[in-house]
Amino acid sequence: MPVTAPLRIVAVAAGLSSPSSTRLLADRLTEAARERLAADQDRRVETEVVELRDLAVDIANHLVTGFPPAALKKAIDAVTGADGLIAVTPVFTASYSGLFKSFFDLVENTALTGKPVVIAATGGTPRHSLVLEHAMRPLFAYLRAVVLPTSVYAASEDWGSGGDEYTEGLPSRIRRAGGELASAVTGRTTSGAARSLTLDDGEDAVVPFAQQLAELRIG
Ligand SMILES: Cc1cc2nc3c(=O)[nH]c(=O)nc-3n(C[C@H](O)[C@H](O)[C@H](O)COP(=O)(O)O)c2cc1C
Repeated sequence: MPVTAPLRIVAVAAGLSSPSSTRLLADRLTEAARERLAADQDRRVETEVVELRDLAVDIANHLVTGFPPAALKKAIDAVTGADGLIAVTPVFTASYSGLFKSFFDLVENTALTGKPVVIAATGGTPRHSLVLEHAMRPLFAYLRAVVLPTSVYAASEDWGSGGDEYTEGLPSRIRRAGGELASAVTGRTTSGAARSLTLDDGEDAVVPFAQQLAELRIG
């Protein structure tokens, strides 16, 4: 019987504090994805959390020398080789942190193409939750990753709160994001149905715009 490689879920946490709420969110998301994968199928799952705080000096060195020290190279390889990625930053000055951005500046800009990614952030105020949409989502869209629909923001007051009339509580959003990542890495839709269209099928199904115009032309 062929041996199937384990699924690898890697989280990147860019928190600076110790203990770090960013690390805690990365751990919770990783666990949510792992649990869902374990429940859905008989496949081994390996998880890893990369703490950028430990690599801060290596990241600066790589930026100025062009060469990654061994520990940083290992972290970049883990991220680019993952089946699914969880990217968590603290909000600094209304955006992702400089350390977070510097790390992803060092990842080759084609290395995340097609990779399912959950984006998440921690912040002091709930008013900066749109960082996920105006900073994180465009960054990973540029890298051509597949950013999953549920992004997770945790302000200080969200830890231990159950949500309100308009928003789910943090544990529920974490479970949903973990479930979406599990579905994406196993090629299933979020409802659990097997995906019927591959990207190539989709491309075949699209009628090129020039052809559509030609078909519309009269006489
Ligand atoms: C330099 C700096 C700038 C910050 N700017 C913001 C901000 O603009 N908006 C916000 O919500 N929180 C801001 N914060 C708070 C952090 O985002 C928040 O404390 C975060 O959860 C810390 O993560 P950690 O516990 O993993 O270190 C800032 C913190 C620092 C140190």
